Amino acid sequence: MKILGTGSSLPHKVVSNDDLSKIMDTSDEWISQRTGIKVRHVISDELLEDLACDAALKALSMAGKTPQDIEFFICSNVVNEYTTPSLSCIISSKIGLSCPCIDINCACPGFIFSLDVADSYYKAGKANNILIVCADEPTRMCDWNDRTTSVLFGDGAGAVVLGPGDNIKGIQLHSLPAPDKIWQHRLLESTPFITKSEMNVPLQMKGRDVFKFAVNASTADVESMLAKLGISKGEVSYYIVHQANMRIIDAIKNYLGEPDSKFPTNIADHGNSSSASCTILLDECNHNGMFKSGDLLVFSAFGAGLLSGVAVLEW
Ligand code: COA
Repeated sequence: MKILGTGSSLPHKVVSNDDLSKIMDTSDEWISQRTGIKVRHVISDELLEDLACDAALKALSMAGKTPQDIEFFICSNVVNEYTTPSLSCIISSKIGLSCPCIDINCACPGFIFSLDVADSYYKAGKANNILIVCADEPTRMCDWNDRTTSVLFGDGAGAVVLGPGDNIKGIQLHSLPAPDKIWQHRLLESTPFITKSEMNVPLQMKGRDVFKFAVNASTADVESMLAKLGISKGEVSYYIVHQANMRIIDAIKNYLGEPDSKFPTNIADHGNSSSASCTILLDECNHNGMFKSGDLLVFSAFGAGLLSGVAVLEW
């Protein structure tokens, strides 16, 4: 497949580290040094599905496609206000899609998992024009009294329209099941028959374990994917890495031995927006005119599960 258009959409409310230091025991110095984050966009009066629709319509417009042209729609999402129907159905109804649609929950690497599903559908001859929307609101998963998690996240949506082409050179997905590293537990409706004890637990994270996994998984994914494709690092134009933490990105950069100039980032302005992160960064770089035809882009993302993935794509 080939990327024909990109789009993104962010909540209007911008929360700085100094804003956070007024509501919890933290500081701009701590957050900046440990994460590289300065501000994040946080949902206040918006609906996540409206951000998703905005991103999708922008990507469709850039691709020169209408909703009727789309034959398959994949929405990557961890949490939203609906249990059912799927977020992809809600977005479809708002923007006028009528093709089959699915939600996938693969946490932060959701874009790469979505790309793999899209590529497989295309190669199986099931669809030529595919829309991917990654929409996440991780700020709604945190306890905002917990400074160890709430300062890390931001909300948003990014979208990509794919059409026929052979620009996806390779995708590798990886799973290391460890559900205790990043998790949130939501209480379901009660019934007259429930006798087990149940709990509502906001986002919990073993930060240092996740940090190590992210760096190890990303560098191993990238090295093995490039080796498999016979592509040298010198041929890579840009690495679009999940924007979780600047220190994670710096460590990946150092292990790969690649220069800063190949790693565009927006972590300072957005925080970690889960699966939306790679697609928002892609769209921002695209709008800045960063990519030229033939550029090789390497996407790498990692997160809860634990899951990770890498994709190599020619622009
Ligand atoms: N402000 C001020 N102090 C804070 C703080 C905050 N927001 N959050 C934690 N601290 C404190 C801790 O309480 C601790 O204090 P103590 O030593 O008195 O107990 C101290 O800072 C160090 O905490 P620690 O958790 O060991 O820090 P760290 O160096 O591991 O950094 C993370 C924490 C979360 C920034 C880091 O582990 C990380 O980036 N992990 C990966 C997270 C991530 O990206 N997850 C998503 C992946 S998809």
